[in-house]
Amino acid sequence: MNRFYVTTPIYYVNDVPHIGHAYTTVLADVLARLHRLFGIPTWFLTGTDEHGQKVQQAARAAGIEPREQADRTVVRFQELWRKLQITHDDFIRTTEARHVRAVRAVLQDLYDRGEIYQAEYDGWYDVSSETFVTERDLDLAEGEEPIGRPNIIRVRETNYFFRMSRYQEWLVEYIESHPDFIRPDFRRNETLGFLRTRPLGDLCISRPKNRLSWGIELPFDPAYVCYVWFDALLNYITAIGYPHDPATFAKWWPASLQLIGKDILTTHTVYWPTMLKALGLPLPRTVFAHGWWLMGNTKMSKSLGNVVNPMDMIERHGVDAFRYFLISEMVLGQDASFSEEAFERRYNSDLANDLGNLVSRLATMLSRYHHGRWPAPAGAPTDGPELVVWQAAQDAVAGMERALTTYELDRAVAGAITAIRAINRYLEQRAPWNLARHAHERERLHTTLYTAGECLRVAASLLHPVMPGRIAELRRAFGLSETPAPEELRQWGVLPVHAPVQLTGPLFPRIEDRGHAQASAGTGPSESARTAPAPAAQGGLVSIEEFSKIQLRTARVVAAEPVPGTNKLLKLEIDLGSERRTIVAGIAQHYQPADLIGRTIVVVANLAPANIRGVESRGMLLAASSGSSLRLLTVDGDLPPGSPIR
Ligand code: MSP
Repeated sequence: MNRFYVTTPIYYVNDVPHIGHAYTTVLADVLARLHRLFGIPTWFLTGTDEHGQKVQQAARAAGIEPREQADRTVVRFQELWRKLQITHDDFIRTTEARHVRAVRAVLQDLYDRGEIYQAEYDGWYDVSSETFVTERDLDLAEGEEPIGRPNIIRVRETNYFFRMSRYQEWLVEYIESHPDFIRPDFRRNETLGFLRTRPLGDLCISRPKNRLSWGIELPFDPAYVCYVWFDALLNYITAIGYPHDPATFAKWWPASLQLIGKDILTTHTVYWPTMLKALGLPLPRTVFAHGWWLMGNTKMSKSLGNVVNPMDMIERHGVDAFRYFLISEMVLGQDASFSEEAFERRYNSDLANDLGNLVSRLATMLSRYHHGRWPAPAGAPTDGPELVVWQAAQDAVAGMERALTTYELDRAVAGAITAIRAINRYLEQRAPWNLARHAHERERLHTTLYTAGECLRVAASLLHPVMPGRIAELRRAFGLSETPAPEELRQWGVLPVHAPVQLTGPLFPRIEDRGHAQASAGTGPSESARTAPAPAAQGGLVSIEEFSKIQLRTARVVAAEPVPGTNKLLKLEIDLGSERRTIVAGIAQHYQPADLIGRTIVVVANLAPANIRGVESRGMLLAASSGSSLRLLTVDGDLPPGSPIR
């Protein structure tokens, strides 16, 4: 692959951006950054779809002109992309002169060549989707009326049509012979099913101005504007210079990857390829339809009031963590369910525990055993645990490189986290805290610290496209340039020997610890030593580090009831300050439910959830027992629920 041109859909300016828009754009951004990371010339286009009925209606509702509606909303998208660190190379607005001029040239060209013709249309029109629909689309018998569907109106008017029908057979063959054109496969089958079972009609590409005036005027008939989808799809080629700048156009077209949501599959895999065919242009290599972000199992919608605002997420959790969540949580192509809990789980496990802990652990060891500087290793890994862990980091590089063609970032990111876990295991195995006790182990100690650092450098750099801010910070602290260079990923010995490692605080404070971590941010390297506890001791003892993995917190019992079918278990609803949870405890023979309500107890808050008698228990309460008596642990005095116990 010698170049990468990636596009997002252009977003309607009838409403402000939400998590769905943010997802497609972050996905495109991560892929663009990833290609740049591997040294591949990249062009990344996004923008806004500013014509059409939706925008005209929104403007009318706000009592303003459509242009003003567009101008007001476009800045919301641009501001969000800035906040989300989106590195698009171009942002196209379909009201810009460069686009309007190009669309008019395309329309004239197609009209001159007989690809567009005028005809009388008499049929149904769906106002909400702005499309002409057949009785079959509406599940109506011939002659039946769509009663009770106010969106469907009868339209009798003269319009202009694009001869889409003539490309039906060609398109089926093209899709069949180009398995990469529509992905994932099940979406490809969806389009093929649609094309094989019904005759493809011609596409009405005009709207009479007396019905809709907000659009690009047809060059050959000023009484009409262009249908918004016909205008919008062309942005992918007008933005890169079609037809007036053939040199730039030839540099980037055909697109490598056009990302879309599953909702706009037909327009992108039926209308768009036939339009390109009529223009004599090659088709994009891949149109990839991703799934939807749902709230629980339901669609997000303004009327349900369950739309996630990306700005809130950024404010609460930071840009990098939000980007990481979007990419790692959605299996590409499938729907994913959004919840704060899923966010916290993912953040705490991958970022705070695996990556964050490794970073602070290593920084602490370096400051204890080598004055906070990178030691010189004996050499490149050739065998033993050093080779195993370096290989794990290199496997992650290979996985990320595979994502350049499969686009399965969620898998590639999981691969990087797997490598990070392998580094944690490597440190356990080499136990630098033991090596440090013996002068003759000095070389091995240095090799261990440097090897862990090198592997971490590689694994973290792979995450740079996903979390550019935090990883740049980490790289700076390690004495490296902020952005990894392509050749660095496979190279051994990039960390600057003897350079100081300067971390100013935990990279990813645990979500429950936010208040504490923020209060201590910026207090210098000694703070990171405090948050990165001492290495594990041996012989049945646990180190502070191991102990600190257990999160003990106070919790208030809000409700309690027996678990049906048992005489030992109680189901408790507890308040942990930041959230409520259910836990199941074997205390029914010692406490009545009513005795517990309102009491402050002590729980292990980060215990892996367990299903006990059909109830998901998320945490464990602490109790002391002697013989047959059992007493709950409580705190001496009043403390708010969720207070950490140290
Ligand atoms: N303007 C058209 C696209 C024209 S492209 C030539 C449009 N715009 S839109 O503002 O409605 O944005 C649609 C895109 O936003 C979807 O295709 C998808 O990429 C993204 N999403 C909108 N809601 C979504 C979710 N709930 N989940 C994931 N992405 C979704 O359609």
